[in-house]
Amino acid sequence: VNEPIRDKGYAGWLRYESIEDEKVKQIYSNWCSMLSVTGQSGCLQTAKQELITGLQAMLGVQPSDWHDSTSNHLGRIVLGVAGSSPLIDQALAWSNHGASDSDGYAILSGTDEQGRYLALAGFTERGALYAVFHFLKLLQTRKELEGLAIQEIPRNGLRMINQWDNMDGSIERGYAGKSIFYENNRIVEDVTRVRDYARLLASVGMNAISINNVNVHQWETKLITNQGLTDVKRMAEVFRGYGIRLYLSINFASPIEIGGLTTADPLDLDVAKWWRARAEEIYSQIPDFGGFLVKADSEFRPGPFTYGRNHADGANMLAEAIGPYGGTVIWRCFVYNCLQDWRDRSTDRAKAAYDHFMPLDGEFKDNVILQIKNGPMDFQVREPVSPLFGGLTRTNQVLELQITQEYTGQQRHLCYLVPQWKEVLDYDTYALGEGSSVASTASGSLFKRPLGGMAAVSNIGNDSNWTGHDLAQANLFGFGRLAWNPSLSAEDIAKEWIQMTFSCDSEVEATLLRMLMDSRDIYESYTAPLGVGWMVNPNHHYGPNVDGYEYAKWGTYHFADCKGIGVDRTLSSGTGYSAQYHSPQSNVYESLDSCPDELLLFFHHVPYTHRLKSGKTVIQHIYDAHFEGAEQAEALLNKWDLLAAKIDTLRHERVRYRLVDQAEHAKEWRDAINTYFYRKSGIKDEHHRMIY
Ligand code: GCU
Repeated sequence: VNEPIRDKGYAGWLRYESIEDEKVKQIYSNWCSMLSVTGQSGCLQTAKQELITGLQAMLGVQPSDWHDSTSNHLGRIVLGVAGSSPLIDQALAWSNHGASDSDGYAILSGTDEQGRYLALAGFTERGALYAVFHFLKLLQTRKELEGLAIQEIPRNGLRMINQWDNMDGSIERGYAGKSIFYENNRIVEDVTRVRDYARLLASVGMNAISINNVNVHQWETKLITNQGLTDVKRMAEVFRGYGIRLYLSINFASPIEIGGLTTADPLDLDVAKWWRARAEEIYSQIPDFGGFLVKADSEFRPGPFTYGRNHADGANMLAEAIGPYGGTVIWRCFVYNCLQDWRDRSTDRAKAAYDHFMPLDGEFKDNVILQIKNGPMDFQVREPVSPLFGGLTRTNQVLELQITQEYTGQQRHLCYLVPQWKEVLDYDTYALGEGSSVASTASGSLFKRPLGGMAAVSNIGNDSNWTGHDLAQANLFGFGRLAWNPSLSAEDIAKEWIQMTFSCDSEVEATLLRMLMDSRDIYESYTAPLGVGWMVNPNHHYGPNVDGYEYAKWGTYHFADCKGIGVDRTLSSGTGYSAQYHSPQSNVYESLDSCPDELLLFFHHVPYTHRLKSGKTVIQHIYDAHFEGAEQAEALLNKWDLLAAKIDTLRHERVRYRLVDQAEHAKEWRDAINTYFYRKSGIKDEHHRMIY
């Protein structure tokens, strides 16, 4: 887009391939002969530019300027924001213009006395930009333009990406190269890549980004100094052009580390004053600065506990500093004891977030949001939903997901995560009776909270295709689409992505759709069984190691012995975690009879001979799942090979290479897990397959 880049993966889903079918091209071109844009500022200019770029690339036309006096009956596109023209206002007339509409838009097509028109109307400039991306998508996916009446309002106010990038250029849990933001402890000079990333994010409706790792080390701590801010400001400008507000992760101990104070106690007046002064400086340079993302008292990061204060004390002090400027404090709930004694079976890491934050419900200021990971542990392929969703009723919250595949194959294995996220969003918390979905608690709609939304840890780096595995782009795309509208289906999102990224060919679509949709179940089947999690190599978290964390301090155990496996988290005989849910979910998990198979070992310790609802014993399930999973991983490769003629060589080869690797590695998983459990239990596979 900025320069010809031969890797088709670089454009992501914004490929804008020239439309080959001349008839289709002509029909589309007829709608796009002229263009009228009212307004100049920021996002609207970006929107206009994107539109022109897209039309040129796909149709080979450059629309000419349209003025009121022009009435030559050529199709015209009218792009603008509320109030800019009667046509735009007509397109937006369906809304009652509530505050939540502000990122919404409409696309309306028809014919009036001046000819055909296509209105791309945003309530605000950001909405207008979204309308343009949506319109271009209609062309990419070959949709009819006649009689369009599209009306879109995002369900979530905050639609945020978290970068875990460090200033030395490394990325925590990054699997696609180095940071596009930093090099040698500086923010990069050339912002081309950052701008192209902003485009990708805006095209799926993202409106916020934090640009540094939640673990804020020495260099990153200085981003909020006057000197650091001059560079941060450049980044903020790039994102502003795409309607994305910039946030920074901050170090809670900053007053000590860069402020020359002797304490970071949130109730100390000098500390509060120091943060207020920082806020003043930040906002003088970046007036639309989003706010702070904070990991405090978690995994050795400093926080209010040091001073005998709680999380509300910490968050509220920061919220007071940036509140006057419209800033938000996003405070993470990933707080647990990471120095646990593995011999101690009463402490349960799964309970920690709820135990820490529930007593503080209602104590946080209105510009504080608690960011809660989807599950109570840490982004495993299968976990129950965090009981804080539905637990907290008087606190803003945001759902945190992990796009980067830390525990789900590190972008070497295919794992389309949207089905997992859908399960989370659709999960019924029963907080206000049936129908209290996580989607509605996170967005804030269920409890009528002022703020809410979704955030996710990005999976991109400076690899030429952004995500290493080309198919992992689907996760970035899918997160954006879900954050915009959690009720979209995983299939529909995948189809859209396939058409935009590869082609509208029906064989490509059907094959790739199956591959994506099956991939998470396949990955789950050859890795840790039945919701127990972990079983990975410590630190880097790639590859099987059943006891890798069993005798460690991290609170992640499976308790396998010669008789059985699993963690008893029931109220009656275990840690009592199941009681953190509302009824009936608490009862569903508490009872062995009703606990779903896929979460059985998360909630119960059972003998290997325990029979699942599927009719299989636990041990036989482990064997079968692992044999089948490894076979299915191999089948993914065969499917992909069928598409060789229909996908450009570079991308086809690159994905192929990863699928070969995955098929091999799935066997490693299969054999390590099966052998471990065969040796522990002494129970043979009913089908006499090879176990070592
Ligand atoms: C996981 C991950 C860490 C990360 C942490 C977090 O534990 O392995 O690298 O810092 O999550 O979410 O803060």
